[in-house]
Amino acid sequence: MLEIEISGLRLRNPTMLASGVMGECSGSLIRAYRSGAGAVVTKSIGLEPREGYPNPTAVEIECGILNSMGLPNPGIDEFGEEMREVVELEIPVIGSIFAGDAESFSILAKRMQGYGACAIELNLSCPHARGYGLEIGTDPDLVRGIVKEVKRSVSIPVFSKISANVADIVEIGKAVEEGGGDGIVAINSVKAMKIDLSTKKPILFNRFGGYSGRGIKPIGVRCVYELASEIEIPIIGAGGVEKGEDAIEYILAGAKAVQVGSAIFYRGIDVFRKICKEMEEWMERNGYSSIEDFRGLALK
Ligand code: SIN
Repeated sequence: MLEIEISGLRLRNPTMLASGVMGECSGSLIRAYRSGAGAVVTKSIGLEPREGYPNPTAVEIECGILNSMGLPNPGIDEFGEEMREVVELEIPVIGSIFAGDAESFSILAKRMQGYGACAIELNLSCPHARGYGLEIGTDPDLVRGIVKEVKRSVSIPVFSKISANVADIVEIGKAVEEGGGDGIVAINSVKAMKIDLSTKKPILFNRFGGYSGRGIKPIGVRCVYELASEIEIPIIGAGGVEKGEDAIEYILAGAKAVQVGSAIFYRGIDVFRKICKEMEEWMERNGYSSIEDFRGLALK
């Protein structure tokens, strides 16, 4: 009932572990898959090991979580070992990568493909890391060029994770499409800040962070709706998916699949199985037997 096809990938259900949450080691990627995820996305990996920012790097705030980890990762060379264990179990693993230019993105994408990733996710949207993510992802020409270059380097699908922190998300989505991208992940966490009233200073070491969780779901749904109205390539909705009904809302707005991150904090790692069960119950109540039966209905 929940099986989907996206850019040639067949997944047992439309839920994916979002990048950045439990995606840095094989054990947690495997655990997310065994807890019901249809696919798992790795933590964003760069060319070199990176420590990330000092603590505090994450804080629970109203309606979600604010984080600024600073893209900590072991670097692509080290990460091969983590990928090997996941791929051996035939788990669909999407390799998330970050870089500052098209050439570095291409090198990383090739390495991820070599490690057995079933697709690539380009991080064009981290809301706070200098020289990466959003600093690149707001420029349609850069986005188009990066996607084009990466597409030339690999034969697996290339998804681009983009940000709501732009004046016109459709312009960025079109740049991905023109570059030959196979899909869009919308959205990453939203640039935000929390100030501690006792110290009278920002709580996070990095001052700014990315806001995720249920507070950003209406922004994510709006972005998916706008993108799905104007572009043809598949969209994966992300931002505040906690329950089956949240996933349904994204799919009604045109998404083919959804990513789940912060909800693990609230509902446990089993959240994937719970969301799938809730989706099936909703579909049964409404007389639908497949995701495609109701995908994009809000657009009509
Ligand atoms: C981080 O590592 O700080 C978050 C990465 C992201 O939001 O893309």
